Amino acid sequence: MTWSSLSLSFADVLWISLAFIFLAAAFVHGVSSRLLSKPDKSRPHVLFQDLIRYGKTKQNLRPDDWLHFFDVPKRWFWHFYVISVTWNSLLLLFYLSFTFQHQSHPSWLTTLLDIWSGVPSADSQVPQLSTLLVQLLLCVHSLRRLQECLCVSVFSDGSMHLVQYLFGLVYYVIVGLTALSTDRLGKGTGSLLSQMDWFHLAGSVLFIWASWMQHQSMVLLARLRTGKSGSVQTLAHRLPQGGWFELVSCPHYFAELVIYIALGLVLGGLSLTWWIVVLYVLFSQGLEAQLCHDFYKSKYESYPKHRKAFIPFVL
Ligand SMILES: NC(=O)c1ccc[n+]([C@@H]2O[C@H](COP(=O)([O-])OP(=O)(O)OC[C@H]3O[C@@H](n4cnc5c(N)ncnc54)[C@H](OP(=O)(O)O)[C@@H]3O)[C@@H](O)[C@H]2O)c1
Repeated sequence: MTWSSLSLSFADVLWISLAFIFLAAAFVHGVSSRLLSKPDKSRPHVLFQDLIRYGKTKQNLRPDDWLHFFDVPKRWFWHFYVISVTWNSLLLLFYLSFTFQHQSHPSWLTTLLDIWSGVPSADSQVPQLSTLLVQLLLCVHSLRRLQECLCVSVFSDGSMHLVQYLFGLVYYVIVGLTALSTDRLGKGTGSLLSQMDWFHLAGSVLFIWASWMQHQSMVLLARLRTGKSGSVQTLAHRLPQGGWFELVSCPHYFAELVIYIALGLVLGGLSLTWWIVVLYVLFSQGLEAQLCHDFYKSKYESYPKHRKAFIPFVL
């Protein structure tokens, strides 16, 4: 039995693999931290930790010197969003001319999409309005994150692994391809306005709410390092307080999950591939939130007991 016989596209298999890698990493990390009474300094363990952690959660890891060779500044996060804004705006333009001027995509893009999502199937039901909205919201999301990286966040000298950096560079490229491939045939029924449904509105409202929550969390994190005048006073990692930080250690990671769920809703819940992407976001952000939660708990003895790591009241 092959994955094509299961009607899974290359995109499905890739997103399932990514989701599984993060789930497995969370499992291995959870088991090893419960079983080991003192830190494991073996090379495979340190390499594993170096690959799953970045920024503050990597601070106490003492990798061999050779591993520092692969460190990239975490403040380079903005590179991901420059690529995302550029690539996703380009894809949006292609889709607009496909929808309104009935122009085919350039041949390189058609080939890429054929590999990515397989030959278009006639039973795709995602409305054109959904694909268009998701592409637009992805551009808005990336622009906001770019603005936050450049103008709001105060970065320390934290680092990430070169592998994480390279993955971040391609991440929004494949997210954009996934969004575009939700409608390959452009056989939408009626005008865009007549396609409008309750889930477009509900998904957009949820997207705006989650984006606001994420933005507020980024502002609160930045304020931990700045004074009243806005000047940077420290680069230390302090105890976050206020807003959704009262409920979870990482509300910005939770907001990220809600943003992807909102986009799944905008697609009318009809794209299986998108729900696999949501699963990937759940596992990847869940792992990072747990590492961050453990970091705060080990640093602050008085860390609020009721505060969860990732999902308010749940996880
Ligand atoms: N979709 C995905 O796959 C994906 C993957 C990764 C991230 N993201 C999203 O990208 C956004 C940023 O993620 P991130 O991992 O960079 O968040 P983060 O580690 O919390 O960092 C955000 C900013 O806050 C600072 N900061 C963090 N904790 C702090 C503390 N205790 N005191 C003072 N400043 C603190 C960081 O500085 P330093 O770290 O430089 O010290 C950085 O400037 C999140 O919304 C996340 O959901 C998405």
